Amino acid sequence: MSIDSSAYTRPDIFADEIERLFAGRMYLCSVHELPEVDSYLAIHLGGASITVRHTTEGLRAFDNVCLHRCALIDPEGCGKRPFRCRYHAWSYAADGALHAAPLVEVDDLARRALQTYPLTVVGEHVFIGLSGQAPAVDKMAYAMSEAGIPLTNPEPFHRGELLQQCNWKLLVENNIESYHLSFVHAQSFIPAGFVSKSDYAWEHDAYTCWSHCEPTEATSKTARLQRLSRQSRHEFGHIFVFPNLFLTATNQMVGFRSYVLPLTPDRTLFKWELFELPALLALPTPVREQIRAESIRFTEASLQEDKPMVEACQLGLSSRHAFIQLRAPDARIQRFHDYYAEQMRHAEK
Ligand code: FES
Ligand SMILES: [Fe+2]
Repeated sequence: MSIDSSAYTRPDIFADEIERLFAGRMYLCSVHELPEVDSYLAIHLGGASITVRHTTEGLRAFDNVCLHRCALIDPEGCGKRPFRCRYHAWSYAADGALHAAPLVEVDDLARRALQTYPLTVVGEHVFIGLSGQAPAVDKMAYAMSEAGIPLTNPEPFHRGELLQQCNWKLLVENNIESYHLSFVHAQSFIPAGFVSKSDYAWEHDAYTCWSHCEPTEATSKTARLQRLSRQSRHEFGHIFVFPNLFLTATNQMVGFRSYVLPLTPDRTLFKWELFELPALLALPTPVREQIRAESIRFTEASLQEDKPMVEACQLGLSSRHAFIQLRAPDARIQRFHDYYAEQMRHAEK
């Protein structure tokens, strides 16, 4: 069984996914994206406008809709500004209560506090519970230790985002399979020695799933890595935390955190951060600089290589007679589809 092709295009199914899959646990950002008091990150997705803010009482998430006439309080995106609506300057306290409203009496207002959402922070990873329940992320630390990624890492040295014209599930699927490497990644994975294989080992535990890939043959890069650091290994470790977070460790040197935010059935925001792992931090500064620069180039090249493929699938899936056939090299996607179906059914009860 695979997910029906209409699930990639239908607005009613998208709305169900937000309610049944994302409301319980959704990765929203890293703590590094909200470094100081008044830093915020605002996004509109699946019919909700949310802002997560660094307040004097820590990180808090709120409905980003002003209690006066519903303007978005924080503009979409991230930045730093007081918690105050831009329209008529109604301002809010750290707990979301209305603090001041210039020129008007507030005592008889029907609503005087913004809706809040619970957050769960695991190391540097911030998850939101849109359902109102704190998101459960107890399995994630285990998957991260399996892939060799510490729970907390230094400030990322690079971050970026790409707006993808496709359904969020296509980005999940693209991220968790290695079948396409030989055919898509001429400027990134292939020169690094990672090519398509049908038998990459992968494991899973509830909503997490992880794999380790090694190059098919040792390349000049393998020898170079061994010369640089005894701690480094030429390998690619990958974790998926359902429904929207991916973490990878490249050669035990560079961590890559990426995530998908489902905006509409056919538009998804893909965001990422690159950070140094302990084996890289231990190396001399010029070597670290070189590896950081190489990993930025690799990341940007591979994401640009994937983009036309996922967008082509979106067009294909929205055409008549679309029919998905998963085969052996798609085994990790099959597991995603099974888990997806189970969670959609589970939420129905
Ligand atoms: S809409 Fe926000 S203060 Fe008027
Ligand atoms: Fe790819």
